Amino acid sequence: MSRFDGASTTDQVIEGVSLKGKCAVVTGASSGLGLETCRVLAAAGAKVLMVARNKEALEAAAVEIRQQQPDAQLLTQIMDLADLDSVRSAAAAILKRADKIQLLINNAGVMACPLMRTAQGFEMQFGTNHVGHFLLTGLLSPALINGSPSRVINLSSAGHKFGPFNFSDPNYHQREYDKWQAYGESKTANVLFSLELDLRMRERGVRAFAVHPGMIMTNLARHLEAADITALTDRSSSSEPLVFKTPEQGAATTVWAATTFDLALEGGKYLEDCHIAHAAESGDSNGVESYAVDPAEAKQLWLLSENLVGHSFPFN
Ligand SMILES: NC(=O)c1ccc[n+]([C@@H]2O[C@H](COP(=O)([O-])OP(=O)(O)OC[C@H]3O[C@@H](n4cnc5c(N)ncnc54)[C@H](OP(=O)(O)O)[C@@H]3O)[C@@H](O)[C@H]2O)c1
Repeated sequence: MSRFDGASTTDQVIEGVSLKGKCAVVTGASSGLGLETCRVLAAAGAKVLMVARNKEALEAAAVEIRQQQPDAQLLTQIMDLADLDSVRSAAAAILKRADKIQLLINNAGVMACPLMRTAQGFEMQFGTNHVGHFLLTGLLSPALINGSPSRVINLSSAGHKFGPFNFSDPNYHQREYDKWQAYGESKTANVLFSLELDLRMRERGVRAFAVHPGMIMTNLARHLEAADITALTDRSSSSEPLVFKTPEQGAATTVWAATTFDLALEGGKYLEDCHIAHAAESGDSNGVESYAVDPAEAKQLWLLSENLVGHSFPFN
């Protein structure tokens, strides 16, 4: 179905695609895959609203793109996903500047941090990676509907294989904290969210996808300790060596999800290596786990998320 694969780059995927007149909102725009995604969407002619929490890093990222593309249409917006008040005020500011949005790339993320809590008390990885993005998406939904056909891309990870979402204790109040388990659950939440969002919004012209970008050396590794790196290196010397992508290869699946005509009639899917992923079998390092695409769990997570953010987004 797709002529691209895991080695394809953003420039290859975007070749021949014009995004003139389209508006893209990208979270986590200050570094890594988010910055590369903004670069290539802007190069294709989109107006890109770059969103991140650190003002200096965000401005530096915009300057970096403008140095290569003086005509790039870039706007910047500060937002801390770990504070729902910040998400609300950022969403209001974005809606003032963009009443039609064609692409929302929920890319920002934090991985394997020590136990920390968001301003509203959610476990940091769940709160940042899912809850903040859930609220942002809901608040921007009028502009997504207005700009339809539009797409929402949620950055997930093969880390969703660490486990199903834990509905009995999503914020680690009763169980011992495990930084990888918490990351995995937040990334499972990203897939479940994509499934339910697509179901609720497709009739309004908004489709949603989850993306695993591959393994890319970025600032995401900032919380890793020496033991984590050793564990990774040990794995890389095993029979199945770790394959790292460049940021241009890593962001390619996001850009493919955002722009390819191949997905015009699809939605709610988990994508990797510029393809719709297969259903994972036991021990499979690729593919999507069945618990991450379980419709009942997706609905349950939606209702939980509405409860956590104190806002209802029925759509249908
Ligand atoms: N790199 C990989 O191998 C890999 C693999 C699988 C999935 N992913 C996913 O890909 C996405 C992008 O990751 P990356 O590799 O590009 O990592 P990155 O370079 O660390 O970028 C993450 C971005 O998220 C932002 N962010 C973190 N916490 C935030 C908050 N509370 N509010 C607003 N922004 C926040 C960061 O801003 P600050 O710099 O200010 O913290 C940064 O701009 C993540 O969702 C990640 O889970 C990456």
